[in-house]
Amino acid sequence: MVIKNKIVVPLKNDSYDVIISPGIINKIGNELKKIGFKKNKKILIVSNKEISDLYSKKLIKNLKENNLDARICHIKAGEANKNLTTLNAIYKEAFDHGLDRNSTLIALGGGIVGDITGLAAATWLRGIEYIQVPTTLLSMVDSSVGGKTAVNHPKGKNLIGAFHQPKAVFVDPETLKTLPKRELIAGMAEVIKYGVIKDKMLFEFLENDHNRDKIMKLDNEYLIKIIKDSIRTKANIVSDDEKEKGIRAILNYGHSFGHVIENLCGYGKYLHGEAISMGMKIAGDIAVEKGLWLKDYSLRQDNLIKSYGLPTKTPKIKKDKVLNILMGDKKVRNGKMRFILPIGIGNVDIYEDVEDSLFLKYFD
Ligand code: GLY
Repeated sequence: MVIKNKIVVPLKNDSYDVIISPGIINKIGNELKKIGFKKNKKILIVSNKEISDLYSKKLIKNLKENNLDARICHIKAGEANKNLTTLNAIYKEAFDHGLDRNSTLIALGGGIVGDITGLAAATWLRGIEYIQVPTTLLSMVDSSVGGKTAVNHPKGKNLIGAFHQPKAVFVDPETLKTLPKRELIAGMAEVIKYGVIKDKMLFEFLENDHNRDKIMKLDNEYLIKIIKDSIRTKANIVSDDEKEKGIRAILNYGHSFGHVIENLCGYGKYLHGEAISMGMKIAGDIAVEKGLWLKDYSLRQDNLIKSYGLPTKTPKIKKDKVLNILMGDKKVRNGKMRFILPIGIGNVDIYEDVEDSLFLKYFD
């Protein structure tokens, strides 16, 4: 449900709001007061140093002005640090700051900070509240909404985690002005994903040259539109299937192959959005070969991906390793690999009958 720039994520228990508003990052304390945060509540903000240097001073000042007892905990950025060691470091800070069952964590940063802070909140004292303040496009449109929290295991990405919904999400498009261009572009991969899986109008909006120019020049009106459209789709899907028993899996379009690429090339070589762009290309081609998708649609998808500066060509990876990683993926059910394949623009379905040869040919 959308009210201006507020999207409600409607859940059986504990529905929450996502508020999208330029400048909101400096008013989080006021927002928390509005949703019932009481005086002296203890808050631990988790962030990486680069993001913290930009935003935490004003954030803490505003929290303190609202009588909230806030402190910052720095973690190292990067997928390679999204692990149990970093999670432990957050627990130590939580203990030192005296976080109790009424305390709150704030995730200030991108998807890695959000996922790991969410898992810390899901597990500290058997679960406390947390707030998402995403500062990358990717975390705004995807990972900050929906309650998936996780850290990586050497055997695979996000293998250790929990479903734990945030109490609220505050999205400030102004923060994209400090985001490195490569990361902004990587975030566009998730926006394109929403176009392909559910939103033909968004797909067509993204194809338009004028709109692309405005988005890439960080025009707030255009950013808010694509963020809002993306989150609206995500909120609807999460509301239908919070714990990914079925339909939520479509949010993983392009992700099975994307995870293989991230894992086998070494986390950090490709950004998540770059890897899923290549994954969407493979999924699109498979769908064409299976007669599910028109060749014209796959060309439009490829052109759209490329027009935002994202890659479609899979790097050199050995075939034998690919199957191993795919079988270890969380999307495997009862030993069967499941693939999200497009059947229209704005429409995908889940398939189990994809022969290995159809995708192994993309690898060496
Ligand atoms: N990023 C996929 C999901 O939240 O389900």
